[in-house]
Amino acid sequence: MKDTKPIPYSRQYIEKDEIQEITKVLKSDWITQGPKIREFEDALCSYTGARYAVAVSSGTAALHIACLAAEISGGSEVISSPITFAASSNCVLYCGGRPVFADIETDTANIDPIEIERHITGMTKAIIPVHFAGHPAALERINAVAKKNNLIVIEDAAHALGATYQDTKIGSCRYSDMTVFSFHPVKSITTGEGGAVLTNSKELYRKLLMLRNHGITKDGPWSTPEAAEVKGPWYYEQQFLGFNYRITDIQCAMGIIQMKRLDSFIRRRREIATEYNKVFSGLSWLELPRERNEINSAWHLYPVRVNKKAAPRYKRKKVFNQLRQKGLLVQVHYIPVYLHPYYESLGYRKGICPKAEDFYEREISIPLHPSMKNKDVRYVIETVKGI
Ligand SMILES: Cc1ncc(COP(=O)(O)O)c(C=O)c1O
Repeated sequence: MKDTKPIPYSRQYIEKDEIQEITKVLKSDWITQGPKIREFEDALCSYTGARYAVAVSSGTAALHIACLAAEISGGSEVISSPITFAASSNCVLYCGGRPVFADIETDTANIDPIEIERHITGMTKAIIPVHFAGHPAALERINAVAKKNNLIVIEDAAHALGATYQDTKIGSCRYSDMTVFSFHPVKSITTGEGGAVLTNSKELYRKLLMLRNHGITKDGPWSTPEAAEVKGPWYYEQQFLGFNYRITDIQCAMGIIQMKRLDSFIRRRREIATEYNKVFSGLSWLELPRERNEINSAWHLYPVRVNKKAAPRYKRKKVFNQLRQKGLLVQVHYIPVYLHPYYESLGYRKGICPKAEDFYEREISIPLHPSMKNKDVRYVIETVKGI
């Protein structure tokens, strides 16, 4: 057992700047619905190149309003990846739609565009590719499939803020209608809880703003001075059913500082991943994550696979337990979503996506996060090599 604190697979990196900025907000007039929200949204837009950003209370909320803005409803089928957190497809269920799981590509564990095409029916409305572990999915090909079949693309980029695809930042929505981020503490940046939807469409932006706030708007034909005279200056309307998915100024103050540090976070993640790639490449019982040519991964995770041909002593559970015993808080990402009992109760069964199931049987996420010191990295390396 390690004599110091265990090393988690990921965690937040917060310094005094965040604490100072949060304190300023606490002493200000606005602790929610104030100026910090727009400032944070502007920072997301200028970093990614997207025209509009709507910051909300979580990545899950962001996925939910993105699906509603895409008009997913009863009868809609939405194709997504099984190797993800349940939120990526729960959002479809929230809207009454049916998630359809397409199998993954073996090198990246991202959804396979060929498998997407195989699952398209007359009911298909959208595709939600997930950029697993921070490595963007094959967006250009996915977008081509979507265009051909008149489908909406919502990128689940919860893992991928800071990643690039063909030299454009994830979040630019170059190959999608909307991109969703999460700011949970294990992600590229954090606001405690938080998320955002980015888009280049003014129409979607308007809907997203209202969905975040009960379906209410203050802007409308009544906001001209003459009309306001009639309706009254307080007037607002609820035009459809929305939610309270607002994020606070306290959180956004933290997010603004984190955005300034994002590139340094990603550089550190990349440095550690490069080191792991180098030293682990000699271990025959391990398969390492790959980064494709047109990609710079955000390295949200370092997902290794235990080699199938390795001796029985390298079975995943044994390796996992040994690493945990030695103080590495490794994790498994992910149980294919449709294998959860709730999804089974909806009729999904084992065998839908064999490559995803094989991936799940063998995956372990090794600690990788920007607050790791060099001595932590060395400890991880020695521990894994010592298995
Ligand atoms: C791929 C993916 N999508 C969506 C989410 C949901 O984000 P949040 O936890 O901010 O609601 C997560 C969270 O872990 C995730 O990993």
